[in-house]
Amino acid sequence: MKAKPVAHESVPKTLRSVSIIGTGSYLPKRVLTNADLAKVMDTTDEWITTRTGIKERHIAAADQATSDLAAEAARRALRQAGLAAEDLDMIIVATVTPDMFFPSTACFVQKAIGAGNAVCFDLEAACSGFLFALETARQYVGSGAITTALVIGADKLSAITDWEDRATCVLFGDGAGAAIIRSRPGVRGIIATAMASDGNLGHLLSMPGGGSRNPATAQTVKDRLHFLKMAGKEVFKYAVGSMLSVAKEALKKANMTMADVDCVIPHQANMRIIRAIGERLGSPMEKYYINLDRTGNMSAASIPVALDEAVRAGFIKHGAIVLMMAFGGGFTSGATLLEWRKPEPSQRVSAKDVSRVRVSNAQKRRFSTNASNLW
Ligand SMILES: CC(C)(COP(=O)(O)OP(=O)(O)OC[C@H]1O[C@@H](n2cnc3c(N)ncnc32)[C@H](O)[C@@H]1OP(=O)(O)O)[C@@H](O)C(=O)NCCC(=O)NCCS
Repeated sequence: MKAKPVAHESVPKTLRSVSIIGTGSYLPKRVLTNADLAKVMDTTDEWITTRTGIKERHIAAADQATSDLAAEAARRALRQAGLAAEDLDMIIVATVTPDMFFPSTACFVQKAIGAGNAVCFDLEAACSGFLFALETARQYVGSGAITTALVIGADKLSAITDWEDRATCVLFGDGAGAAIIRSRPGVRGIIATAMASDGNLGHLLSMPGGGSRNPATAQTVKDRLHFLKMAGKEVFKYAVGSMLSVAKEALKKANMTMADVDCVIPHQANMRIIRAIGERLGSPMEKYYINLDRTGNMSAASIPVALDEAVRAGFIKHGAIVLMMAFGGGFTSGATLLEWRKPEPSQRVSAKDVSRVRVSNAQKRRFSTNASNLW
């Protein structure tokens, strides 16, 4: 099964334009360096750096769950957008490390930030999760079904990392990134998205234990099935090919070439993968925002954290065309092209604005009406 990217039209005939109006990110305080790892396992800073580009990663505290990281990133994004939590109509959290199977991590975030008007759910597309969630939310905002969505990529990979497997544990870290989206009249915002999946390759990167296939037992724990497993070399090959494919598809839909792209936010898995992509796309590394040396691979959090850092550092300038691209377990891959505009103070909705609350309730009714029409 060769996955064909599903591309979404650059100028959708039925959707209004949708923009990111605020970003935020959070990295846990504790930093684990390659030198720290070399003290406790058979590895070296030199091996990790030359194979991956990673020098250090952030590790969440034992009492910090994914939703704690996500909620902090969400608060920062809300501040940048000039919105309050009750202005949110939807929260989607992309993660492979939910706090629990259920409730969803998005519902935990809702409670933590007080987003009482939001519909909340999780989405799982591994490292492509943030871009898949962004496109999902874009469909809701673009259709006019909702006004404001919060999209989060958050992962506490240290919780599923096998610290006895030196081939994987050196690669990953913890963090969360968030983006708030709305329609901004006259702004192109998200221009095109391409997404692809190939379920035939799922076995190359997975966590086999704990689900309905291998429910948790003393034996599954003994067999270390509750840790991430990866065939590194095969994943490497897939990563390069799949990201190239979705990036080209998104560019084609937007009638653009790499020459039109000012900044690239690639999934931050491995510097060698990013260089290979840059060479094949013919785009110089200066256009690529890189933070994997400080963060490692944070799965769904990698792209939104890099996006937030790049925006705040001025790497992404007002009017820049930005290409984000990711690949991950599943397998999944995604690419999103957007025009970046500086966040402007948003239309805030005060608690006194009763009419807005009524709109929110009406939207909720619209969800249920539409759903009942379907059955
Ligand atoms: C994981 C990865 C860095 C390994 O690099 P590689 O060049 O493929 O290395 P290999 O797997 O061939 O291992 C080479 C040797 O290094 C050893 N090695 C593995 N991890 C090591 C470590 N942390 N320190 C030192 N040596 C290590 C291996 O045991 C192997 O030794 P051997 O030749 O004696 O058997 C690389 O395959 C990769 O980046 N893959 C993609 C992973 C990825 O991006 N995953 C995220 C998906 S979202």
